[in-house]
This record gives sequence, C-alpha cells and structure tokens, in this order.
Amino acid sequence: MKQKLIAANWKMNKTLDEALKFTKAIKKAKLKNNVIIFPSYPLIPTVQKELQKSQIIVGAQNCHHMECGAYTGEVCAPMLKSLKVPLVLLGHSERRQYFQEDNNLVNLKLHAALRSNLDIMLCVGETLSQREKDETQQIIKDQVSKGLKDVLAKNMGKISIAYEPVWAIGTGKTATPNQAQEVHAYIRHLISELYNNAIAKKIQILYGGSVTPENSSVLFKEKDIDGAFVGGASLDVEKFLKIVNT
Ligand code: PGA
Repeated sequence: MKQKLIAANWKMNKTLDEALKFTKAIKKAKLKNNVIIFPSYPLIPTVQKELQKSQIIVGAQNCHHMECGAYTGEVCAPMLKSLKVPLVLLGHSERRQYFQEDNNLVNLKLHAALRSNLDIMLCVGETLSQREKDETQQIIKDQVSKGLKDVLAKNMGKISIAYEPVWAIGTGKTATPNQAQEVHAYIRHLISELYNNAIAKKIQILYGGSVTPENSSVLFKEKDIDGAFVGGASLDVEKFLKIVNT
C-alpha cells in the first residue's frame, strides 16, 4: 500500500521545551508513513536541527506575499528558503477566518512561495452553513481554482492540498469517510479539469478536521484520501504516532 502523508499542525502551541520533548520522542519512533511537522516560526530551527537526520519534513504555517519590506511582524518566503524550510502551509481556515485571507491573497502568497522554490500545502474547506446550503462544491471550486490561479502545470508537483471542512476543525466532529471521500474525489476532478489526469492522480490530498487515532484508519481506507492533516491530536506525541502508524 502506498505510504500516507501525515501532517502535524501545531498552530500557536508549544514552548521551546515542549517542542523539543515532542521532537526527541518522534525522532526515536518507527514511522510507517511520511510525516510533516508545521511548528510556529520561532520553533522551526530547533525542530529542524533535531530532525535533520530523519525523513520528517519541517514546514512553516504561513508566509507573506511580498519578498521583503516594511511589514512588521511578518515572515516572507525568501526567509523561509534561507532557513532551508522546504514547505509552507497556505490558506488554512484560521488564516481565512481570523486574518481575513481571501482566495486572492492566498494565490499571491502561493506565487511568492513558488518564486522562492518552496513546496506548498494549500488548505481548502467549507463552513457548516455553506455545507447546509449545499454550496460545498462551489466553495471548494472557488478555493482551488482561485488559489491555484496562474500556477503552471510544471509547478504542480510542488503543491499538495489539505481538505478541511471548517465545521470539523477543533470541534470533535469529523467528516464521515463518505463525506470526505466525496470532496476529495471532487478536488481530484477539479485538478484534472484545470490541468490533466496525470497531475490529478499524483497530487496528494490530505483530510483534516478532528482526526484522531480512532478515526484515522477508516478515513485512510478511502481511495482519494492520501493522508491526514492533524491539529489537536498532533500536540500529543503518543496520539500523533498512533495516527502516523495507522
Ligand atoms: P484539528 O485541526 O485536528 O484540531 O481539528 C485541524 C486543523 O489544523 O485544521
């Protein structure tokens, strides 16, 4: 069976000591699947150093859309590149919700990341009211097509997608395997329309939203679910490892 990709999104959690403790534990563990960790910016160099001999990828949770300039408190893609961070997360629903990031800004950030030759994990997902109004496909279509606007096919190998229904993030309400599979298949279909079948087949699409050791195995059985994007359950190394070794 093809290896899954499991991402830990620590969000604004963990002190340096807590990050080190987690990292030392995961470094020693046997991993059945591929792992990405997204720590917050100041923790990146320490986590990276600790994991340098492992296969685990350390990514950033966000970047600015400009190369440099007077943007106090922000971090740009060239800085991440200079720190040898290979991957950045963009368009997470918390960025969209609390920091007013729309599809246009996500797209600008994505191009900034590509200019610095970073890989990108693009997050998409509908809210509960959008799902209830039967708008899920339209929202996903908008987020995928506008997020990827002007991205050339030759750069699609650098992109992965995390589908995270907003109503499932941090709520304990996971999408059913059927609900998740339906949207994952739709995203793959969109990618084949925007690009081609080969790219659609290859792109990794992770499911996120209250993933736990209890529900990960049923989700992983679905054909179009290539892995998991884990928030809450990624803060505890034991729980996270159970998901990784599902
Ligand atoms: P959660 O978060 O696993 O706590 O629901 C998922 C996410 O980061 O979006």
